[in-house]
Amino acid sequence: MSKSPWWRNAVIYQIYPRSFSDSNGDGEGDLTGITNHLNHVSDLGVDAIWLSPFYTSPNRDGGYDVADPRDVDPRHGNLEDAKILFAKARALDLKVLVDIVPNHFSSEHVWFKAALQAQPGSPERARFHFYPGKTPTTPPNNWISLFGGPAWTQVSDGQWYLHLFDSSQPDLNWQNEDVRADFEKTLRFWLDLGVDGFRIDVAHGLAKENILEDHYDPQGLSNALRLDVEMSAEARGKLLATVPFFDRDGVHEIYRQWRKIFDSYDREIMAVAEAWVHPPERATRYVRPDELQQVFNFDLLVAPFNDQILYQCIDRTLKLMGTVGASPTWALSNHDTPRVVSRVGENESRALALFTFGLPGSSYIFQGQELGLPDAELEDCDRQDPAFFRTHGVQKGRDGARVPLPWSGEAAPFGFSSGKPWLPIPQGWSSLTVEKESGDLSSSLEMYRKILALRKENLLDSADFTWSRRPDESGVISYRRGNVEVFLNTSTQEFQVQSSGHFAIASDPRSKLELNILSIAPSSSAWIALS
Ligand code: GLC
Ligand code: CA
Repeated sequence: MSKSPWWRNAVIYQIYPRSFSDSNGDGEGDLTGITNHLNHVSDLGVDAIWLSPFYTSPNRDGGYDVADPRDVDPRHGNLEDAKILFAKARALDLKVLVDIVPNHFSSEHVWFKAALQAQPGSPERARFHFYPGKTPTTPPNNWISLFGGPAWTQVSDGQWYLHLFDSSQPDLNWQNEDVRADFEKTLRFWLDLGVDGFRIDVAHGLAKENILEDHYDPQGLSNALRLDVEMSAEARGKLLATVPFFDRDGVHEIYRQWRKIFDSYDREIMAVAEAWVHPPERATRYVRPDELQQVFNFDLLVAPFNDQILYQCIDRTLKLMGTVGASPTWALSNHDTPRVVSRVGENESRALALFTFGLPGSSYIFQGQELGLPDAELEDCDRQDPAFFRTHGVQKGRDGARVPLPWSGEAAPFGFSSGKPWLPIPQGWSSLTVEKESGDLSSSLEMYRKILALRKENLLDSADFTWSRRPDESGVISYRRGNVEVFLNTSTQEFQVQSSGHFAIASDPRSKLELNILSIAPSSSAWIALS
């Protein structure tokens, strides 16, 4: 029997190292903490972990400001700890993806320090985007940083450098050979240490066009790039299609080159692109047969709990990915967006999880999602996200989703650390610890465990997806795959339908199947095993 590559139907668990588990009491999660608690992840029934950055970094942007991509930041441990973690993962049969951050380095990277010491026009500066201003005091163009404020910072000799994110994250110039060679070295470095692939940060950003031209609507553009700004989908789409620094054709040649590196290893290596693109068809370009294996589909991260919209997102993704033979991806939460519970509600978040775990392709789980964690309320004095500071508090930032995990006990910090955690854990999370939820059949954690086991038993490799119910006035949609039928009821009413199958699992305990009538509670979902 031929088995498709591991990643095509994998469930991948995202670990945010700083907030997973602290092994030495300094309040910061570390690689040893991950090793110590990796059983929790494998018991959940996932296939792989994706580690957000743990590389040397001044941590101005949660480690996405990398000062040395081939070493471990002391706050997270050292390379030995990484090797031990990878070995533990292998022993538990978990694949490992690591983050790669090619759009920018940290301003603490030796290259950028050298660039600051060097002259305008020097090879050291050519690795970044240094330009003279339009006038001595105005930047080369009017682009705005995604974290707010101008996308340019001036250095002492009057030149400016580009940073699409924080000023501590200078953008790299991908026209430069040193940059290309260095990233190839980094890919091989981690692959040689045994990782199975990469999550590519800002994968759509590496090639820039018209770098000296103003954008006609810089504020509109920056709003369009922010999910917390309300804007019609049409207006957003129009603006996004004009972004001169995202999704330019030049990125693809880079990924073709990377793909050759992946294919030179004798195991199945994969990469998933973080690419926010418009229109959605553009996403398929990243997963053409000679490029990357997966691209994140962010539709579900922002979709309301609405049958029509969910149906459209899912249907469109399946069709689009089908056109290039790529496997789709599904994610309800990550470290950049509000947690799904806070966004759509507790019952709704469980319903979405159960519904999407039946879909073909890969599902990504953000740490703590399995516990049903909401975003934590934070005091402004605790916030660390550069987006909070660069917008002078207009954007609260992403810290609420990044609060450390509650493991055990009755009092904060719930076994995360023996010291003071880098962000406070709400006392109200005492009912949401791994310890409390384990064995409680009504908990989110036990639902995740059960659904992932069912997925493994019933759905691996079944490609035969069909909608059995499309949106209508009922608010219910359903599909069949393998020998299961999966229902989602987005309405506020119980929904009843004839069914000859057996009840497998539901996100709401009130749902039942009796005398061939399936009753699905409001805002919930259910899996039916078909005979
Ligand atoms: C990506 C990361 C985000 C980071 C940004 C800049 O979007 O997911 O956390 O702030 O890139 O590297
Ligand atoms: Ca620590």
